[in-house]
Amino acid sequence: MHLSGKTVALCVTGSIAAYKAVEVARLLKKAGARVLPVMTASAAKFVGDVTFSGITGERVASDMWDPSWKGEMHIELAQAADVIAIVPATADTLARLAQGRADDLTTALVLSARGPVLCAPAMHPRMWEHPATQANVLTLLQQGRVELFGPVMGEVASGERGVGRMAEPEDIVVRLARAVGPGDLRGRHVVVSAGPTHEAWDPVRFLGNRSSGKMGHLVAARAFIRGAKVTLVSGPVALPAPSGVHRISVESAREMQIELLRALGDDLLSADALVMAAAVADYRPQITHHEKIKTSRATSLDPSGANVSDTIPSTALPMVLLAENPDILAGIGEARARGKGTRPVLVGFALETGNDETIVEYARKKRAEKRVDFVVANHANESIGKDETRVWLVSEETVDAFPVMDKARVADLILDELVRRLG
Ligand code: CTP
Repeated sequence: MHLSGKTVALCVTGSIAAYKAVEVARLLKKAGARVLPVMTASAAKFVGDVTFSGITGERVASDMWDPSWKGEMHIELAQAADVIAIVPATADTLARLAQGRADDLTTALVLSARGPVLCAPAMHPRMWEHPATQANVLTLLQQGRVELFGPVMGEVASGERGVGRMAEPEDIVVRLARAVGPGDLRGRHVVVSAGPTHEAWDPVRFLGNRSSGKMGHLVAARAFIRGAKVTLVSGPVALPAPSGVHRISVESAREMQIELLRALGDDLLSADALVMAAAVADYRPQITHHEKIKTSRATSLDPSGANVSDTIPSTALPMVLLAENPDILAGIGEARARGKGTRPVLVGFALETGNDETIVEYARKKRAEKRVDFVVANHANESIGKDETRVWLVSEETVDAFPVMDKARVADLILDELVRRLG
């Protein structure tokens, strides 16, 4: 997550959403961060400070005038924090931040921040919509020193719906990871494809493959944390969209091609890179039936229970004639070569069977044929559905072999190489 070893000053202000800050603290600790809890007096009306000290293992700072604290509390905390998070941030907190007040620990800490500050506002929708709050938000955005994340549409404490609900703890933690991450993809647009494609035969049946979409989703998630704007075009998968990533769901190879070309733009220059992790079906049924194809077995059931399909004349069995799908990556590689450009950086995958030498050889061939910058090669039986895999990064010049590692690590390796090529 890039949070390991980082210090987060977590300022909790007085909203009912303060209970969710407990979960933020827990997730940050789980990700390896040090969390320094700060609470306003009104936050303490909603959650006890023992909860935060228990979860973080740190003393809760709240009173700037605490005589037992040696030194300047706000400056020491600002010095220690890689990032300051205000979770939740009330309407009053936003107003005070916009004015540059410094009469409590949270506001004084924000004024002395040496790194990024992330606010997760939470309030009743009418408070959020109020022109005074909106003016404060505008002031904060214009000053450019505080990032606002949320509020989001949803149910608030009163049971009403509207924009005012605090963003979810998991999403806040991803934003914090991005805030302290390497930022080496900041300003870049990375397009990723993931998952299988399903090629419809009739309304209930399809041709597909076993891809889980895990690798592509991890590449997308990590690219976002490293600062990129990410578009993920995914075939049917059972995974949630990674936080911060714009996911477009498709079914077939041809739908995937349309969405990828839309994301890359007519001249392919709307993106800096394409990571083609999808397991695109090479073939589709020539005809997609609009009605469910009925099996002939129902009418020719053999009372003895024998395998009736052996007894049905082959002419009575349904036939699936196949048509070839477009090779999406090869088409994009060709278009880039035609334009004599080097952008977007193109990354292909090669999921193969066979021994190590054959796998690398196939990957080399695919890289050249599809005219891509590099190919991530791996073994089908070492990768499909697994959390770990062993890969080779195969480029024109080099073949780098890596040991078995977590797919999240592999995603970072791929992005490291991307960053290197983007310069
Ligand atoms: N790919 C694609 N369009 C296709 C097939 C594959 O864009 N119709 C992309 C994949 O997303 C992957 C790369 O091409 O990045 C290699 O895919 P793979 O299925 O391993 O190879 P194929 O080219 O389909 O060749 P084969 O199935 O014979 O191994």
